[in-house]
Amino acid sequence: MMTSMSSINSELVRFAKSVCKNAYAPYSKFAVGCAILSENGHYYSGANVENLSFGLTICAERAAVFNGVSKEGPSFRIKELVVYTNSEMPITPCGACLQVLREFGSNFKVISISESGGQFDHALGELLPFPPDIQL
Ligand code: THU
Repeated sequence: MMTSMSSINSELVRFAKSVCKNAYAPYSKFAVGCAILSENGHYYSGANVENLSFGLTICAERAAVFNGVSKEGPSFRIKELVVYTNSEMPITPCGACLQVLREFGSNFKVISISESGGQFDHALGELLPFPPDIQL
């Protein structure tokens, strides 16, 4: 789905674009920035951080979620999220990140934007329609 630029939270886009510049991605050269607006009205961001031991890499989305939880505690809830990449095409969060994101909101909007201007958005439920939820 395409969201018109006017309905997009420009502050959230600005944060995502800005944190993308901080990505540590010497191996893939694929820089990702993620900005989250919480239900409490606060902004959090994260960039991908790679490692020589590739499996230790953390995605931008999870870095942003961990920042939010660290500040707000376990009641942290996501209202809206932007993922910004230095690529031609925008991306949706990876499967691992979707599962982590789902723990902190059930159907917020995920907006994907690339440096070259590509853009789309999805509800979380479209990207992860049958989450393996458990009752806590
Ligand atoms: N990456 C993210 O940060 N978020 C995603 O949703 C997909 C992938 C990062 C991980 C790695 O540093 C680089 O992009 C290439 O996969």
